[in-house]
Amino acid sequence: MNANGRRSIPTASLGDTVAITKEVLLPTLAKGPIIRRPRVVGLAERHDLVGTAVRRMQRLHDRYGDGPLLMRLPLLKQALVLAPHHVHRILDASPDPFAADSSEKRASLAHFQPKAVLISSGAERVDRRRFNEAVLDTPRPMHRLAERFRAVIEEETHTLLADARGRGMLDWRVFADGWFRVARRVMLGDAARFDRAFTRMHEQLRAYANLAFLQPQRRALKERFFERLNAYLDAADPESLAGVMAQTPVTAMTAPDHQIPHWLFAIDPAGMTTFRTLALLAAHPEHEVRVRDDVAEQDRRPELPFLRQCVLESLRLWPTTPAILRQTREETEWEDGIMPAGTGLLIYAPYFHRDDRHLAYAHRFTPEVWSGDRTSADWPLVPFSQGPVGCPGEHLVLMLTSTMLAELLRGAHYRQAAPAKLYATHPMPSTLDNYTLRFEIDT
Ligand code: HEM
Repeated sequence: MNANGRRSIPTASLGDTVAITKEVLLPTLAKGPIIRRPRVVGLAERHDLVGTAVRRMQRLHDRYGDGPLLMRLPLLKQALVLAPHHVHRILDASPDPFAADSSEKRASLAHFQPKAVLISSGAERVDRRRFNEAVLDTPRPMHRLAERFRAVIEEETHTLLADARGRGMLDWRVFADGWFRVARRVMLGDAARFDRAFTRMHEQLRAYANLAFLQPQRRALKERFFERLNAYLDAADPESLAGVMAQTPVTAMTAPDHQIPHWLFAIDPAGMTTFRTLALLAAHPEHEVRVRDDVAEQDRRPELPFLRQCVLESLRLWPTTPAILRQTREETEWEDGIMPAGTGLLIYAPYFHRDDRHLAYAHRFTPEVWSGDRTSADWPLVPFSQGPVGCPGEHLVLMLTSTMLAELLRGAHYRQAAPAKLYATHPMPSTLDNYTLRFEIDT
């Protein structure tokens, strides 16, 4: 009961709160929310850390019911979302009353994008969201510049494969170098193609952002970063998103240059996902055959529908945004009681994506799960979140990743280099460390 004699949502015991902190929160933070720490990703893979977290969440649901479940913390009001229908409720009713600009997100993202839509609210959020959707062509499966982006991907994949052949192996370093050349050309134009120093500056800022308020802001570095970014935006290569931005109306609130750092940051996990999908296909030859049919049809059907399903499935198995965070603006009512205003909510995506109590396919590669449109009546699979705050870059990401995969598959055949990490006959691991994935390639 709360002070007004009304029933509060359930609260975890002290022992369970410690277990949640140790098994769910700390490993998620340690991996790096804004930029990954490769050593911790490797540790998570070896020690099945995400599997342990999912099993902990299942036990909490068995013990406390649908919740949401408040943690017993001294200063913070933080709750875990345990029921599928609550995921839909929260995401569909964002940003009000479930605000996206939670305190920890603001502290962290202020390091490199203080005016980004994700940490904006009120009229500013509405305006910045409009701008993001307009430039990213949010509702369209194929961005208006898709043909140009495909040409960029073809060129960079060609170079990337030549590099890999020279080394006798395709590894993360070669792949990521090619992927970021694509990303810089798509976002900023051809002049940025080899500007690796710009990407490094952004990575440094993201590394500070990983530590949120524990780290002072690096103002000089941030200024240099924005200066370089604005030089690209001023030049506005018409065959890049910078060029689309230049054609898109802005208001005094928009802060266009503060939207791009988020795109540059979010394109990194899209690269990880592309590389992981390649591993899934190498381990599942029966799917690779269907994918190659998709590739053969690309000129007639550029959306590459089956490849997109494979990318989405890779994101179900290994969501790159495992923690979707919200904060309540007001008191909210749930079946199990009242939740106070200002409570942080954590939707831990792997718990829903891998809940083997309900999903027969939880640990298998099943791209067919994504063959139709998913709605709020379905089990929540939310790699791109959903609702009014859902990722406005989803189609662009699916277009870039599936086109890159098509080009990689057109250029070569891939075998996981020993020791292989994925076997079609084994459950998919709870983490797939992209940094240590390697492929042998034949033409
Ligand atoms: C694998 C790649 C990506 C994944 C899995 C992903 C996923 C997500 C998720 C889960 C959110 C919502 C967070 C929430 O509900 O709180 C989000 C927000 C967002 N994403 Fe993505 N994203 C990806 C790539 C991108 C890219 C490449 C762009 C831009 C080019 C982008 C633009 C955005 C923006 C602007 C938001 C903030 C939306 C808002 O606050 O209204 N994302 N993304």
